[in-house]
Amino acid sequence: MTTIGLIGSGNIGGTVARLAVAAGYDVVLSNSRGPHTLKELVDELGPRASAAISAEAAEAGDLVVVSVPLRAYLDVPVEPLAGKTVLDTNNYYPQRDGTFPELDAGSTTSSELLQRHLTASKVVKVFNNIYFEHLRALARPPGAADRSALAIAGDDVGAKGEATAFLDRIGYDTVDAGALADGWRFQPGTPAYGFVYAGGIENFWESPGVPFDGAALRAKLAEARR
Ligand SMILES: NC(=O)c1ccc[n+]([C@@H]2O[C@H](COP(=O)([O-])OP(=O)(O)OC[C@H]3O[C@@H](n4cnc5c(N)ncnc54)[C@H](OP(=O)(O)O)[C@@H]3O)[C@@H](O)[C@H]2O)c1
Repeated sequence: MTTIGLIGSGNIGGTVARLAVAAGYDVVLSNSRGPHTLKELVDELGPRASAAISAEAAEAGDLVVVSVPLRAYLDVPVEPLAGKTVLDTNNYYPQRDGTFPELDAGSTTSSELLQRHLTASKVVKVFNNIYFEHLRALARPPGAADRSALAIAGDDVGAKGEATAFLDRIGYDTVDAGALADGWRFQPGTPAYGFVYAGGIENFWESPGVPFDGAALRAKLAEARR
């Protein structure tokens, strides 16, 4: 696996792209406004990076990261992602995304909505519970004493293996939080969300990022209540 496709290349997508290039992957970026608007990021990332329209980024990726606001999830191209593992960074913020009654009722999760849209793909929820600057700052090589862990959730064992291998290469350990339906355990408002990578301070964006390992993350996931 050598190429990561990105549908959405903003704060989180752009950060994953930076980590992926640093780890030796090629990346194909995309957004809603067209490849020409990604020139600055492509130039920064160098020869391993290119920009395309979303369907082309989906087609090019051996592994594809979807990092668009939830309100846009139905725009994610279906056919070129068939059979592929798709990493979903989404969170539901009603003030930004509009109201999703099923999510308000807790009868499904945002990543399950994406999976329902991408019926032939294997969706893994990941990267959604860490602030993008902390994601960039806390990446460490395998075996580092201060390595952090990220949670994943998904229904396909092989896809979770791909996600774990990718995380390992870009700088993170993995904690398996269960099936996609368990993804609520690290959604906004849960103990494992955001603040944990900031040492627990309220203004988490003011923190440079504080390492948070797998054992600590497992404990926070276990504390989650619906
Ligand atoms: N920011 C964080 O620290 C953070 C952390 C964890 C998870 N998340 C979640 O990850 C998702 C992305 O967040 P973000 O902060 O990276 O957002 P962002 O900086 O606003 O970036 C969103 C990206 O999605 C693209 N996009 C929007 N609509 C699209 C469409 N219809 N088709 C293709 N691309 C589209 C945007 O392209 P244009 O700019 O061209 O419109 C942009 O590249 C959200 O669900 C967010 O809640 C964010």
